[in-house]
Amino acid sequence: MNKLTLLFTGIFLTFGSAWVGLVAYPVANLGHLQPLPNEETGGVNPPTVSGLAVAGQKVYAANGCMECHTQQVRPDPLTTDIAKQLGKRQTVPRDEIREHTPFLGEYRIGQDLSNFGARQTDVAAIHRHLYSPKSVSPWSNMPSYSYLYEYRKVVSQPSANALQGLTGPRAPKPGYEVVPTQQAEALVAYLLSLNQNYPLPESPEPTAK
Ligand code: HEC
Repeated sequence: MNKLTLLFTGIFLTFGSAWVGLVAYPVANLGHLQPLPNEETGGVNPPTVSGLAVAGQKVYAANGCMECHTQQVRPDPLTTDIAKQLGKRQTVPRDEIREHTPFLGEYRIGQDLSNFGARQTDVAAIHRHLYSPKSVSPWSNMPSYSYLYEYRKVVSQPSANALQGLTGPRAPKPGYEVVPTQQAEALVAYLLSLNQNYPLPESPEPTAK
């Protein structure tokens, strides 16, 4: 074999094996996954993301939330995710088919959010936290997403959806209010939709030891 043929064969094998391992094999294995019927609700598992939550998925992506938050409950007993009540069972590929781009994430600077909607349902508290994380947890190093909120003068009546109970430097001055934009409303709808408390046969809940 002359040197040029050897070089091109080597390049082909290098990229070809990466393509087989990273694209062809996963698609053959997981590409056919479909939601399963949910007999109780008449819907499917995992439930489809609908309404405002679809727009919220885009806000989540655009703001880089996955830089600090994972969305994957890792297996028991290799990790303590289930003991820490991040979820009742391990996340499996079928859980992710509801996401256009799964936000598995790599770093957990903040908590895992796969089941955030199951542990927090107080919409006002979620808005307060996004607007000013430090007003909820003084030690928090989560950035403020105050630009998803409108800081404005109260005209005649305070708005019905204005944030209540804000404290600290970002709290509105008397006569002013903080109101969620549509993006903030969508993001909160998405966060509330994060809930993997439906059964999947390939991911049974670990039995108590
Ligand atoms: C720089 C890292 C960082 C980024 C980026 C970040 N967070 Fe956080 N987040 C944290 C940390 C740290 C905490 C824990 C402290 C706290 O509660 O503020 C947290 C907590 C949370 C919680 C509460 C979780 C729980 O279980 O109580 C939610 C919800 C949340 N973040 C949503 C978001 C969303 C939505 C975005 C994007 C708009 C985002 N975070 C971006 C670091 C981050």
